[in-house]
Amino acid sequence: MKKFINPIAPSMLSADFANIKNELLSIAPESDVLHLDVMDGHFVPNISFGPVVIKDIINEAKKIKDFTFDTHLMILNPDKYIPEFVKIGSSIITIHTEAVTHLDRTIEFIKSFNVKAGLSLNPATPEENIKYLIEKLDLVLVMSVNPGFGGQKFIPYTLEKIKKIRSWADKYNPDLIIEVDGGINEDNISKVSKAGANLFVAGSSVFKHKDRVLAIKNLKKNIL
Ligand code: DX5
Ligand code: ZN
Repeated sequence: MKKFINPIAPSMLSADFANIKNELLSIAPESDVLHLDVMDGHFVPNISFGPVVIKDIINEAKKIKDFTFDTHLMILNPDKYIPEFVKIGSSIITIHTEAVTHLDRTIEFIKSFNVKAGLSLNPATPEENIKYLIEKLDLVLVMSVNPGFGGQKFIPYTLEKIKKIRSWADKYNPDLIIEVDGGINEDNISKVSKAGANLFVAGSSVFKHKDRVLAIKNLKKNIL
């Protein structure tokens, strides 16, 4: 299993967009991966931001350090927008199993741009839905809340799914990144890491904290 030096990926959804430069500076010492949540108001009941805003975030972030830009597309018809997210500098593009009809085709499409391809599962979506793609994927994103909003409560039954995906990854794709997104905090991150996740999205548990470096360090301390 791949181990990240900085396995906490702050979700910019919880950041103060009027103060984005300082928000990025506040997390930079302890993070290498920026999680960027794109919501379209159709696939999920909320609208966040799109490529125009992300382009500015990426450009600001690049002045600070060499971040990985982890773009989580909670949108219908992602194929239509993937080239634009590549163009603005995404390093990883993750789509939802539930939002796409021809999953294999869309994953191949992402890979054709030489960016990492991720596939996400809503809490109630079974791991079987990604079974035949596991060798092709760079990342699986297990949603541990129903996507759409930051600050929700972690759904415990998703732990079992993480375990199953980790067992498949050990067998068929040891480099697969298993990322977990939603409600991650100091109290549950040890269980989530024990189940086999190696990258952890954290929105409110980082940005609600005054001292972001300390918040990330405290999360990190609890990873097994
Ligand atoms: C939810 C988003 C998450 C969210 C996580 O739909 O995909 O990335 O920002 O926020 P927290 O960590 O507050 O649950
Ligand atoms: Zn997300």
